[in-house]
Amino acid sequence: MDSQVLRTELARFRCTFFPAAAAQLRTKDLISITRSSSVLKLYFASKLLRFGSLQRTQTSAAAIMAIPMNGGDGLYSYTKNCDIQKFVLDACQVMIEEGIDHKLDIHASAPKAFLVADLGCSVGPNTFTASQNIIQAVNLKYSCKSFTNGESTPHEYHVFFNDHATNDFNTLFTSLPPERQYLAAGVPGSFYTRLFPRDSVHVIHSSYALHWLSEVPSEVININSTAYNKGRIHYRDSGMEVVKAYSAQYAKDMEIFLEARAEEIVGGGLLMLVFPAIPNGTSPSLCTIGILFDLLGSCLMDMAKLSKVSEAKIDSFNLPMHTAFPEEAEKLFTRNESFSMERMEEIPFLNPAKNGTVTSSYYYDHVRAVTEGVIESHFGSEIKDELFEHHYLNKLEEVNHILRSPKSIMLFVLLKRKVVN
Ligand SMILES: C[S@@+](CC[C@H](N)C(=O)[O-])C[C@H]1O[C@@H](n2cnc3c(N)ncnc32)[C@H](O)[C@@H]1O
Repeated sequence: MDSQVLRTELARFRCTFFPAAAAQLRTKDLISITRSSSVLKLYFASKLLRFGSLQRTQTSAAAIMAIPMNGGDGLYSYTKNCDIQKFVLDACQVMIEEGIDHKLDIHASAPKAFLVADLGCSVGPNTFTASQNIIQAVNLKYSCKSFTNGESTPHEYHVFFNDHATNDFNTLFTSLPPERQYLAAGVPGSFYTRLFPRDSVHVIHSSYALHWLSEVPSEVININSTAYNKGRIHYRDSGMEVVKAYSAQYAKDMEIFLEARAEEIVGGGLLMLVFPAIPNGTSPSLCTIGILFDLLGSCLMDMAKLSKVSEAKIDSFNLPMHTAFPEEAEKLFTRNESFSMERMEEIPFLNPAKNGTVTSSYYYDHVRAVTEGVIESHFGSEIKDELFEHHYLNKLEEVNHILRSPKSIMLFVLLKRKVVN
């Protein structure tokens, strides 16, 4: 077998498939299959490898932890408890408009279909607002500065709503705004894998989703590790080793996320990300989001003391969530060579309660809508009412004074796909 052919085949193979899956195949696998080969054997070997790699992609996607928000439209549904996220979206609207106006670089001719994607869309209504904001901004841009060929707006818009396959897409689709200006499609799957064809999407947006990791770092639930996070489900008050394990997982995930998006976004297209963060130099123990989720862990421990839950079950559970520092996130974004970072803004964690006072019940509804599903799937449904209604609500009231002066922020990050010649 010609070694040059082999190298080319291997390179093509590595580029064709999602790198994380392809990386699992060793060069020697390919060599051993193709060593004695005729052209025909090489052909079948590469087909086999392709099949294997797709299977591996699916396996690694299946290993990704899914934590969908509460579906439906009940009391603790995400639909009814997403004001915090809506507030953030509203705060970012001007930056989204400015980003599209100043940085979106698609100008030769109006694309037949302008593709927008919202990653981690959940069940709405925020995802509809985000998509509408983007489309309005694109329309406005091209009605003022038309494409080089004189056309003034894209022909059609196509919006892709992405979330884990277990997301309540039925609720999402049945509540699509009837007057929308776009065709809609759902894309199930983790955003830590490839979701769209190469070079196809013009703007990708994601809000309040990127703090969810692809998985819990294995060390934190490994009894033999120095990063074992015993008795906790969040790293807010844990030792440095635990914090480092979370930070390393975040870096790994962000690299995979950006590599996948770099494949999908057209040159000159935009990636707009909004996610929770913690101000540089602040101790994770003061982070509002950390406090909210750590408190849930301490309620579980209280229930373990009452023999309502096994302690071992708590030790084997951690939330796959990381709240990054701006400097930490910036390093990861600027390290990626496919995008240029055009803007990064810190948004204060605003008080979204309608009467201006954040009450414990306000946070209660929010945390319940976000975590009830995952708690149920690990601990069973029988503990959830006591956990939330008795323990969690009481503890939240005890820390209400701390929650009134939040120490979390949101980050708005605008990345532009570099044009490859
Ligand atoms: C708090 S909701 C945000 C929903 C919406 N973007 C908003 O701003 O209201 C976070 C969503 O991200 C989704 N999510 C988390 N990790 C994900 C992943 N790896 N792939 C796709 N969706 C993910 C969750 O399932 C959840 O629906």
